[in-house]
Amino acid sequence: MLRLTDINKTYVVGPTPVQILRGVDLEVNQGDLVSIMGASGSGKSTLMNIIGLLDTPSSGSYVLEEREISTLSDDRRSAIRNASIGFVFQSFHLLPRLTALENVGIPLVYRGMEDAQIKDQAGAALDRVGMGSHLDHKPGEMSGGQQQRVAIARALVGRPVIVLADEPTGALDQDTGNGIMDLFVRLNQDQGTTFIVITHDAKIAQRCGRRTRIENGLLHEEGAS
Ligand SMILES: Nc1ncnc2c1ncn2[C@@H]1O[C@H](COP(=O)(O)OP(=O)(O)OP(=O)(O)O)[C@@H](O)[C@H]1O
Ligand SMILES: [Mg+2]
Repeated sequence: MLRLTDINKTYVVGPTPVQILRGVDLEVNQGDLVSIMGASGSGKSTLMNIIGLLDTPSSGSYVLEEREISTLSDDRRSAIRNASIGFVFQSFHLLPRLTALENVGIPLVYRGMEDAQIKDQAGAALDRVGMGSHLDHKPGEMSGGQQQRVAIARALVGRPVIVLADEPTGALDQDTGNGIMDLFVRLNQDQGTTFIVITHDAKIAQRCGRRTRIENGLLHEEGAS
């Protein structure tokens, strides 16, 4: 489904360029649940931003669903991002003035879908994450774990080919974080949803069927189960 080949990323801040990724190769297949671990600053979020089409590599090839992405215009990449990729962040990134239902509907609003259909699909996505009884709650009226479930519904609502989660349990206590991983595992097993999960927590990584690590700008496979 996606293949990165010899991906390099160099940031230039001040006089010295710093190479963060030094030839990353990664292939992800539909139905994978992959973790990425690595020290702080090792380039995990940098890699996720490249996979999520939020940033471009300095060099290398990225093929997503049989399309070479590196050569596309910004507009094309945005369109593919909206259609194909769901994001989950450590700090949820929900809009505080909107209800759960409205937050989840946002990706569909960008697609120009009709209101009634947006409500239907957003409601169904909230049902799938166990938040069907909180449609009218605003983020401030929900716990952290509940807000993350809403964020996951928002990531899923557009039926992306892959969900990218950058430390999705990082702001949650251990039990709540485990509940989020239960949800990922269930969605992965029942619906075949493909996930890449960045985490600092080895226990969270252990829940993923395939485990990788970034070190010295390279990505290594660490195991599979
Ligand atoms: N836009 C940018 N401009 C310059 N340097 C950047 C930029 N984004 C990231 N970096 C640098 O790239 C390196 C990797 O950052 P990145 O955010 O990918 O790390 P990370 O592995 O996600 O770390 P953490 O676990 O702390 O989230 C860091 O040294 C960071 O300072
Ligand atoms: Mg990071």
